[in-house]
Amino acid sequence: MSLKLNKHQTLCVIGSGNMTITNKDYLRILSVLALFSCAVAFNTKIVNGSLALPGEFPYMVSLRRASSGRHSCGASMLNRVWLLTAAHCVVKAEPHQVNIQYGSNELDRNSTNIANITKIFVHEGYDPSNQYIHDIALMRLDKPASVNKDFVGIRLPDYNSASEPETPATLIGWGLNATGGVVQKQLQKVDLQIFSDEECSRRHGIDIHPTNLCAGVPEGGKGQCSGDSGGPLIVNRTQVGIVSWSRKPCTVYPYPGVFTEVSAYVAWILETILDAEDEEEFGDSQEGLSGIDGILSGDLIGPKNLALLKKLLQ
Ligand SMILES: *[C@@H]1O[C@H](CO)[C@@H](O)[C@H](O)[C@H]1NC(C)=O
Ligand SMILES: *[C@@H]1O[C@H](CO)[C@@H](O)[C@H](O)[C@H]1NC(C)=O
Ligand SMILES: *[C@@H]1O[C@H](CO)[C@@H](O)[C@H](O)[C@H]1NC(C)=O
Ligand SMILES: *[C@@H]1O[C@H](CO)[C@@H](O)[C@H](O)[C@H]1NC(C)=O
Repeated sequence: MSLKLNKHQTLCVIGSGNMTITNKDYLRILSVLALFSCAVAFNTKIVNGSLALPGEFPYMVSLRRASSGRHSCGASMLNRVWLLTAAHCVVKAEPHQVNIQYGSNELDRNSTNIANITKIFVHEGYDPSNQYIHDIALMRLDKPASVNKDFVGIRLPDYNSASEPETPATLIGWGLNATGGVVQKQLQKVDLQIFSDEECSRRHGIDIHPTNLCAGVPEGGKGQCSGDSGGPLIVNRTQVGIVSWSRKPCTVYPYPGVFTEVSAYVAWILETILDAEDEEEFGDSQEGLSGIDGILSGDLIGPKNLALLKKLLQ
């Protein structure tokens, strides 16, 4: 099995070097990052999880069918308008066919915290026939979600930072509590650990792509199931993974769940957002710029990623 790196991934390995940032660049970064501050196929309850606490994961949203309000996948808010999910959750959807419910642990088809999506960006290399490689997508809301003023999105990991095996990680989602189970009304969380690519490949009996990450518990019985897809795997308030696929029945021993490794896609994420904000008229008012300094100092995307962003802007 060969692994072709696309242009976005090769960008990931560019060193930061000694760069200066011009006023024009600064304004461009500001205009995109300002948004940060104002701010289904298979893995669709987490198996053997527990209730998330109110407000514990403010960036977690439910991706729904707009027509029925039915939960289909998880997604995470990077800021008040940009969301991260799995490609397989949205690859067949038009933006008007889906929406999100945000700001609550409880799924409610009649919720008033619904936001509409105006644009979906599926990774151009996404390929279900190649172990769902590049299973990542971004979604842009038509207008900023009405979240609290102090809302902070989920943090991106440093680009190309590999997660250490056995690192404790938390998975959250509304997915089935077992194969043949039911979607959970209350957001669930479960503590897992990260497996090395080698261990994961050995357990699955196939070569897991280096752009994937695996998590579960050694003995099985905890982890993702249908309805969790697209949702975040979290280490230290940073999203390291996006739920991609798993063996059935859910959490069956010895197979860990497979995630898109977010650190391999930081360049793709930043570039996609920059390009989109540059080319599209989203018509946001530039309200609520508070917190922008925090982002530029690296709170949300980190100093390493900021250096990468400058490189992308050259
Ligand atoms: C949603 O609203 C409809 C119409 O008012 C009502 O029939 C239905 O029971 C509500 N569903 C829930 C889950 O509250
Ligand atoms: C989302 O779009 C629907 C259909 O166009 C519309 O009725 C609804 O008011 C919109 N919701 C928001 C929060 O803008
Ligand atoms: C799944 O959840 C449903 C409803 O919450 C419950 O009735 C069922 O027993 C659960 N199944 C398992 C395997 O935990
Ligand atoms: C968690 O993230 C914060 C902010 O990025 C960082 O300062 C801290 O060192 C991290 N802690 C661990 C255990 O990685």
